[in-house]
Amino acid sequence: MPSVPLDFLGELRRTHSCGELRSANAGSRALLMGWVHRRRDLGAVIFIHLRDRDGVTQIVVHEDAAADVHAKAELLRSEYVVAVEGLVRKRTADTVNPNLETGEVELVADKLWILNESRTPPFPMEDAVDVSEDARLKYRYVDLRRPRMQRNIILRAKMAFAVREFLQSQGFLEIETPYMTRSTPEGARDYLVPSRVQPGSFYALPQSPQIFKQLLMVSGFEKYFQIVRCFRDEDLRADRQPEFTQIDLEMSFPQQERVFEVIEPMLARLCAVAGYHVEAPFPRLTYAEAMRKYGSDKPDRRIPAMHPVEDLFPPGLATPDLPLMAIHIPKTGALSRKERDELKAFGTERGLRVFDDVKRLERDYAEPMQQVRSRTGAAEEDLLLLAGWAGEPTGHRPEETVYQACGALRLFAAQKYNDRHKLLDPKKFEFLWVTDFPMFEWNAEDNRWGAAHHPFTSVHDEDIEKLTADPARCRAKSYDIVLNGVELGSGSIRIHRRDVQSKVFAALGFSDEEARHRFGFLLDALEYGAPPHGGIALGLDRLVMILAGETSIRDVIPFPKTARGTDLMCDAPNTVPERQLRELGIAIRKPQ
Ligand code: AMO
Repeated sequence: MPSVPLDFLGELRRTHSCGELRSANAGSRALLMGWVHRRRDLGAVIFIHLRDRDGVTQIVVHEDAAADVHAKAELLRSEYVVAVEGLVRKRTADTVNPNLETGEVELVADKLWILNESRTPPFPMEDAVDVSEDARLKYRYVDLRRPRMQRNIILRAKMAFAVREFLQSQGFLEIETPYMTRSTPEGARDYLVPSRVQPGSFYALPQSPQIFKQLLMVSGFEKYFQIVRCFRDEDLRADRQPEFTQIDLEMSFPQQERVFEVIEPMLARLCAVAGYHVEAPFPRLTYAEAMRKYGSDKPDRRIPAMHPVEDLFPPGLATPDLPLMAIHIPKTGALSRKERDELKAFGTERGLRVFDDVKRLERDYAEPMQQVRSRTGAAEEDLLLLAGWAGEPTGHRPEETVYQACGALRLFAAQKYNDRHKLLDPKKFEFLWVTDFPMFEWNAEDNRWGAAHHPFTSVHDEDIEKLTADPARCRAKSYDIVLNGVELGSGSIRIHRRDVQSKVFAALGFSDEEARHRFGFLLDALEYGAPPHGGIALGLDRLVMILAGETSIRDVIPFPKTARGTDLMCDAPNTVPERQLRELGIAIRKPQ
C-alpha cells in the first residue's frame, strides 16, 4: 500500500520539460512532470526543485494555494514523481538562481498530482557525493538518474545517432549479423550458448562480426556498417567489458587511405558532438616507429617521445647492440631521492638498467649528455632518464622488448607527476594512426606464431615471401586508431584470395583440416568472386568514455558488469533450474 494517496496520470500531458522555462514564458501557464529533486518546507511556502531529463525548475507552493495543493506538497519526499501545473512567474532579481538554466523563473503551483512515491534513495542524486561502485551498480536505475550518468548516456545516444547519420551519408548500409553463431577468432574466449534441439552443440556469441562483414562484401553490398554488440570472455579492466559495442564497418575495393578518409571526418564529427574541435587528417606512425619513439603500439602523444641515444655513448652502459633510450618528461621539477628510487625500481623490475642520476652522467659523459639535451630538448626542471637493457636480449624482436620496457617507464613517470606538468589533460585529444603492424606475434603458451590482428589480415605485398621464411619481420596491412594512449579501433585490408588465405592459415599452424573445420564457409566464399576489401571497428564505449572525460567504460554503459563479470543489479550470472540443464543435456561438474 502506498503511504500517501496517489493520483492517476489520466489524460494529463506536460506542456514543457523541466529545463525549458525562461523569463519569456512568464505570465503563461505550464504543466511539468518529474521527480522531486529537493524540497524546502518553510511552513507558509514550500519550494520544490522538480527534475526531469532536461533540467530542474523551481516550484513554489503557497499556503493559500488552491484546494489541497499545499497539503499534498507537505507529503512530498525525495524522488517522488509528480505532475504540477501553475503560472510561470519571473523571479525578483535577488532570488534569481544562476545555477539553474531555468533560474530566472519559478512555477507557482495551483494543481499538484502525486503520481508515485519513492523509498528513500540509497544515495543522493548529487554527483559530488562519493558512492561506492558496488552500491551504484546494485541500484543502477537510481545511479543513472544522477547528472553525470545522465550526461554520459545522453552523449552516448547522440554519438550513436551521429555515427548512423554520417555513415549513411557516405553510402554505408546498416546490416545486422547474427549473435548466435560460431567462434570468431579475436583472441579471447567465447561465450557459449547451448543448443536444446542439438544437445551437446553450442553456438558462440560473436567476438566481432568480422567474418560476416567480409561475407557481406563477397555478397556485393560494398559498404556495410553496424553499431554492434560483441562478446569476449577475457580478463576485465577499466577499458574492457565482456559485452561491449563496436562501430564496425567494411568496404569493398579500399586501400588503407580510403578507410582513413571515412574514419577521420567521422571522429571529428563525434568530437564535435561532445563539444570539442579536432583537426583531421590525423598523424600516422608505423608500428616500428611507434615502438621506437614511444615503446608502445598505442602511444599517448600528450607526453614527449623517447629518443634513442646509443650512438652517443661508448659501449658498456647497457647490453650492447640494443637501444639506449632517453626518456624526458617536462616540468617535473627536481625529484627526491625516494622518487628517483621508485622510478628506478619500476624500470629494473622490467629488465632495464636505469640511469636516473643526470648530474653524475653529465660529469662522466659531458659531451654525449649535451647532445642528449639537444636531442630531447630537456631543460633543467625536466625529468631526464636514460634506460638500456640490463641482461641478455629476449624475445623474437629483442629491440622491441627494450622499447616496451622504456615506454612503460615513460608512462609511469608521466602519470606519477601529472599534477606537476598537467600534460595528461583529458580535454586534449591526440589521435594517431599506427600502421604496418607485424603480421604475427609469438604465442609463448602454445609455442607458435599467432595472428597479431586476426588471421584474415593481408600481408604487405612485398612481405609475402617472409610468411614462412621470417614471420617475425612480416608486416600486415593493418592499422589502429589510437586516442590519448587508448586503442580506440583496429582494422585491416583483408585477404580476398583463397590461395593467400590458405598460406596464412598454414603459417599460423592451422592444418588444412582444422582451417576447413573452423572457417570452411569463408574459404568457400573466397572462391566465389570475393572483391578486395577492408575495414575497421572502433570501440564505441571507449570513445564515449574519453569524450565524456571518464576513466572507466563502466561509466558510459547503462548496465555494465563488475570487474568479475557480474551484474550486481540482476545478479547474473546465476544458476538455472535442474530441468533446464536436463533439457540442454548439460550436467554440472562440481568444482574440485
Ligand atoms: P579488435 O579486436 O581490435 O578488432 O576490436 C576493435 C575495438 O573494439 C574495442 N574492444 C573493446 N572494448 C571494450 N571491451 C572489450 N572487451 C573490447 N575488446 C575490443 C576496442 C578495439 O580497438 N574485427 C576486428 C576489427 C576489424 O578488423 O575490422 C576487431 O574486432 O576499442
